[in-house]
Amino acid sequence: MELSWNRKDLLCLYDLSAEEITFILDTAAEFKKVSERRVKKVPALRGKTVVNFFVEPSTRTRVSFELAEQRLSADIVNMAADSSSLRKGETLLDTVKNIEALQVDLIVMRHSAPGAQDFIARHVRCGVINAGDGAHSHPTQALLDLFTIREKKGSFKGLKVTILGDILHSRVARGDLWGLLKLGAEVTLCGPATLVPREFESIGVRVCHDLRSGLENADVVNLLRIQHERQTAGFFPSTGEYAKFFGLNMETVKYLKPDALIMHPGPINRDVELASALADGPQSVILEQVTNGLAVRMAVLFLVAGCVR
Ligand code: CP
Repeated sequence: MELSWNRKDLLCLYDLSAEEITFILDTAAEFKKVSERRVKKVPALRGKTVVNFFVEPSTRTRVSFELAEQRLSADIVNMAADSSSLRKGETLLDTVKNIEALQVDLIVMRHSAPGAQDFIARHVRCGVINAGDGAHSHPTQALLDLFTIREKKGSFKGLKVTILGDILHSRVARGDLWGLLKLGAEVTLCGPATLVPREFESIGVRVCHDLRSGLENADVVNLLRIQHERQTAGFFPSTGEYAKFFGLNMETVKYLKPDALIMHPGPINRDVELASALADGPQSVILEQVTNGLAVRMAVLFLVAGCVR
């Protein structure tokens, strides 16, 4: 398929067409081969400078982006909010404008405020890649989830995917569901009523508050982290209660098809949303998601960098 990419930013899968998403996944499949070679490096971004600016904690996304940039031969600067002049009261836009004045080509940014990257992208010449903005979007996580599902199941048409857990606060759920719907999958959102509001039905997904019904017939279950930081807000009585009614464990896994994939974006709360034995078991593709994240981020960096003037 021929498709010329013409976006200088990657902000949210909602903005992309099915063809654009498929184009990124196809490009990632080519980049995955690079990491399987003896010399895991190509000169695709030689001469380009990328700043990784994480204003919120991250392990997987930050390391994966940095490694992807190294494998593409980019020059890299890592910036942490704690050691930046944000601490002295500088505005986010001033900080980013100063980074841009150093002739940077791309900024990979994570921020706790939904829409922060959209705002920045409208004010800078350089490309902006969203590495997660609050509960809004995490497009490269969604793309690596889609890549992993396609690699294992072949196609999305009619595929039944259940996203289980705290949908309300999850940028992963929002990214995944836009991508899955655009590519033709059938999406079920499952979890307690406080975390999975019926309003989601208006975008064409099934909402379900019963674990058995949410898991039966699913080809894929993507579990979300229970966000302990939300616990004080009383969305559910306790993590023990949550695990009892919505945890995937050795009993509730029997509701799933034997060949259903178990996915999780990480970090996992072992034995809360997911039994440890299942996280490490044969149906789990959790570490393959991480491996595929590298290929997806190489593809995104390569395509976006090609559009920066
Ligand atoms: N999945 C994910 O975004 O993990 P990190 O917060 O560790 O980057």
